This record gives sequence, structure tokens and C-alpha cells, in this order.
Amino acid sequence: MTRILALAVSALMTMAAPAAMAADGKALVKSNKCGSCHQMAGPAAKTIAQVLKRKAPDLFYAGSKFKKDWLVEYIQKPTTLRPGGVVYLNSISVEGEADVVKNPPKCASKLSGGDAAAVADYLMTLKDASMKTGVFKKMKVKKAKARVVMMKDEACNACHKFPKKGGGISCPTFEGIGARLNPDWMYSFIQNPQHWDPKVWMAKREFDDATLQLMVNYLVKLNK
Ligand code: HEC
Ligand code: HEC
Repeated sequence: MTRILALAVSALMTMAAPAAMAADGKALVKSNKCGSCHQMAGPAAKTIAQVLKRKAPDLFYAGSKFKKDWLVEYIQKPTTLRPGGVVYLNSISVEGEADVVKNPPKCASKLSGGDAAAVADYLMTLKDASMKTGVFKKMKVKKAKARVVMMKDEACNACHKFPKKGGGISCPTFEGIGARLNPDWMYSFIQNPQHWDPKVWMAKREFDDATLQLMVNYLVKLNK
């Protein structure tokens, strides 16, 4: 009787174990050492010295920031998002008149499809509960009008690269940004970058809702 019970239990365990393991994104984050580069828990760096030591972007609010489908793809096959590296100052050297970027750090994630899905599920649970959701309003905006604000008035392109228009390299590219980021998060970040990253080198500006909606609607369309 006990033997039969033991056999039944072990059969159950071998059936249940792989499924349970595949679903445990948190354990995969640990075993793949994502936390050796990324901060997986807050708070964000509070001093410039801490920022300069940052090896990779913070992931402890990934669930507020990203679109899940993008995460699943990215952590299987990461690409360069920050042409000047995570901390621009650590990657550039000045040669003659020009800033030259040497070996910007890359993401080391190389997960298989199943593991990537489980990790993305876990990352999507890491949310900043104080972020307002349902703020972004999808609407038709004139690209030209958005570009006047972003490329002339505010010079976002001094730091960010616009698809086909070029721009700076000291921070994430706008190429594909619409597929990558949650529009509510973009709205919140542009409104107050320092809420997310107290020492980030993007200035807080006083934008009204209409201007924020204009910019985020423009960015949302940059989804390729
Ligand atoms: C050796 C350090 C290192 C390890 C280990 C690492 N990453 Fe990264 N990761 C980076 C760097 C550097 C970037 C920034 C790349 C860029 O912007 O071009 C990055 C970017 C990312 C991004 C995009 C973040 C953003 O804000 O744009 C995600 C998501 C990510 N990594 C997930 C992971 C996961 C999941 C793991 C573990 C399976 C992992 N990474 C392991 C260094 C690392
Ligand atoms: C002085 C340089 C600078 C300027 C100018 C600037 N930003 Fe940024 N921006 C940054 C930095 C630095 C980050 C975050 C760095 C990181 O995640 O590694 C950032 C992040 C962002 C992000 C999130 C991108 C992502 O992939 O995580 C958005 C959206 C954004 N900025 C929009 C804007 C808009 C809109 C403007 C113009 C109104 C602007 N920025 C002007 C430096 C700048």
C-alpha cells in the first residue's frame, strides 16, 4: 500500500515539476543572474556616484514601463537601445572634436522562448503602484506639430535618436519605442523623470496635458 502510494506521489511529482519550473520567472531571473547587472529591487540610485556605477537599466518597475510582448522578444535576443551605453559618461572618449563610443555594455540575456515568457510574466508583476494608469489618450496627432515641439522647442533630439532624423546617443533611442514602452509610463516619465530615476540627466519640464498627449501619441507610432 505504502509502495503504491509512494509510486503515485513520485509520478505526480515528475508530471508537475517541469510545468512548475517553467512558470517560475522569479527563479529564472535569479539563476540567470539578471540581478548581477540590473537592479531588481528599489530604490533607484540616489547619488551621481551610484548612477556612475550602474551596469544596466533598473528593472524593478518593469511591469509599469514595458509592453510584455516586447519583453518576451528582447530577453531572447537583446539589441542596442542606448547607443552611448547605459551611462554615457562611462562609454565615451573624446577623440579630436568628436565623442567616440567604445564598446557600450550589452544585455547578456539569452533566454529560450519558454523561459523568456515566464521571466516576462514575472517582470510584468514589478509595478510602481503610484503610477496613474489610463492617462494616455490615443488620438490623431500631426507628426509635424509634434516634431516642432520635440525637435525645435525642447530639443529632445539632443539626447534621443529619432528614426530617420537622427539625434543624440546619450540615452535610449526613440526607434521602436512605441512597441517597447507602456504609453502611460512614457507620459509619467516625461512629466517627471526624477520620480523614476532621481539623478537621470533628463530635465523635468512643465508640460500641460495636451503637450504630453501630443508627444506620447507621436512616440507610440514609432513602433517598428
Ligand atoms: C552583464 C550584464 C547584464 C546581465 C547579466 C543582464 N543584462 Fe539586461 N541589460 C544589460 C544592459 C547593459 C542593458 C542595456 C542595453 C542597451 O540599452 O543598449 C540591458 C537591457 C535590458 C532590458 C531593457 C531595459 C531598458 O530599460 O531598456 C531588459 C528588459 C533586460 N536587460 C532584461 C534582462 C534579463 C531578464 C536578464 C537576465 C535573464 C538580463 N537582462 C541580464 C546588461 C545585462
Ligand atoms: C539631456 C538629455 C535628454 C533630453 C534633452 C531628453 N531626454 Fe529623455 N531621456 C534622457 C535619459 C538620460 C533617459 C533615461 C536613461 C536610461 O533609461 O538609460 C531618458 C529617457 C526618456 C524616455 C524613456 C525611454 C526608454 O526607452 O526608457 C522617454 C520616453 C523620453 N526620455 C522622452 C523625452 C522627451 C519627449 C524629451 C523632450 C521633451 C526628452 N526625453 C529629452 C535624456 C534626455
